[in-house]
Amino acid sequence: MDNLSAILIVDDEPDMRALLKDVLEERGHRVQVASNGREALKKLAEEEYSVVLTDLRMKEMQGIELLAEIKRTHPDINVILMTAFGSVESAIEAMKQGAYDYLTKPVKTEELVLVMEKALREAALRREVGRLRREVHKEYSFHQILGKSKPMQQVFDLIRRVADSPTNVLITGESGTGKELVAKAIHYNSERRDAPFVPVNCAAIPEALLESELFGHMKGAFTDAKGDKRGLFEEAQKGTLFLDEISELPLMLQAKILRAIQEREIRRVGATRSMPVDVRIIAATNLHLAEEVKAKRFREDLYYRLNVIEIHLPPLRERREDIPMLVEAFLKKCAEASHKNLRGMNETALALLMDYTWPGNVRELENVIERAVTLARGEKIVPDDLPPAIQGARGDRAVIDEAAERILPLADVEKEYILRILEKTGGNKYQAAQTLGIDRKTLYRKLAEIEERDKA
Ligand SMILES: Nc1ncnc2c1ncn2[C@@H]1O[C@H](COP(=O)(O)OP(=O)(O)OP(=O)(O)O)[C@@H](O)[C@H]1O
Ligand SMILES: [Mg+2]
Repeated sequence: MDNLSAILIVDDEPDMRALLKDVLEERGHRVQVASNGREALKKLAEEEYSVVLTDLRMKEMQGIELLAEIKRTHPDINVILMTAFGSVESAIEAMKQGAYDYLTKPVKTEELVLVMEKALREAALRREVGRLRREVHKEYSFHQILGKSKPMQQVFDLIRRVADSPTNVLITGESGTGKELVAKAIHYNSERRDAPFVPVNCAAIPEALLESELFGHMKGAFTDAKGDKRGLFEEAQKGTLFLDEISELPLMLQAKILRAIQEREIRRVGATRSMPVDVRIIAATNLHLAEEVKAKRFREDLYYRLNVIEIHLPPLRERREDIPMLVEAFLKKCAEASHKNLRGMNETALALLMDYTWPGNVRELENVIERAVTLARGEKIVPDDLPPAIQGARGDRAVIDEAAERILPLADVEKEYILRILEKTGGNKYQAAQTLGIDRKTLYRKLAEIEERDKA
């Protein structure tokens, strides 16, 4: 039942209510009635309505008060007012307060139906837009991770499914693919979200310190141990320990971590007793860990303990359809941070980004956008604002292919290409020069040459 297209009629005259109800019901609409403002508000709280049709002059609450209250509590409902002939001024006042439209009494049937159906359509459209917006938001982003591509959608799905299980997770993927972001998303979606998320970069801490960093130490355990110290396992108690670049963990510590996972207890360096820990481990690596196992650089038993579930993040070049939304998000963020009034990126620049191979993945893209925002002089990012490596990555293949097909001389290819770019920029020479990667003077010279040749 579509109770969303319902209409509520508010009028203190019983005959009028009945008449309006009949007319609208005959047109197939669902109609409820209320005899005053209070009753109307009660009905609005109980059920969903799209449009309220109310008399302006009523005994208790005036139509204008009812309008104000509806705009406050149900801003999406369209309110149509009915006013006696000769009091159009108050109707205009009501329009200023947000009424959708007004009808003068006696209300003509056709006019009523026309205005009503328009109001219903617009309310439905607004609801649909709201629904789509929520859906886009829900589907294409997950805890700050953006991605509409199929592999990213599968990653979102996996995160949801593993979050509440106690299993350890191994996140794999090239540098900059978002491994840490995924680790956080798992933590903040799990029952452990109120306990700490503790990241450790196993490659960044000197080997000699790593053990006491992870497990803590007792006073006097070694020369520098001036007091007792909690390790990161203890810091992460009841939460999540994120072991980043796990492949860099020395074999000796791999054994200790394995023990901590199996026994669920740890021992501070220099301590005589162990203590229980309840920590979920999420590990990440940009190497192929199975190969490290084969090469005996990584313990097989630890590998299996960590790799209960693997979440693999594909490189950006394998999910190019994610690039536009990432660009948009990073642009917005950077433009806001630098107080620049940027209106996006021109098509050629975006095409260059779509073509590039992104060895540094999303992190590289983020840096490229930040750089471009800093360099941008116009209101849009243009190819000139991108690093040379990216600008050079593209030849307009279609044009080249076509030229090769027709075996055109180089000068003709250049001419066609320049004219086509000019066409694309709507004749704007400044933009065309930027797109072509040449300065404006060069473009003018080339255009002059083209003209000369054409004359000859
Ligand atoms: N899908 C994504 N949506 C939005 N931002 C992303 C996405 N993936 C990565 N990022 C951003 O890219 C940057 C790198 O992400 P992150 O640090 O999680 O990558 P990583 O895989 O851990 O890289 P590394 O292996 O180099 O440590 C971060 O700033 C992160 O916010
Ligand atoms: Mg990382």
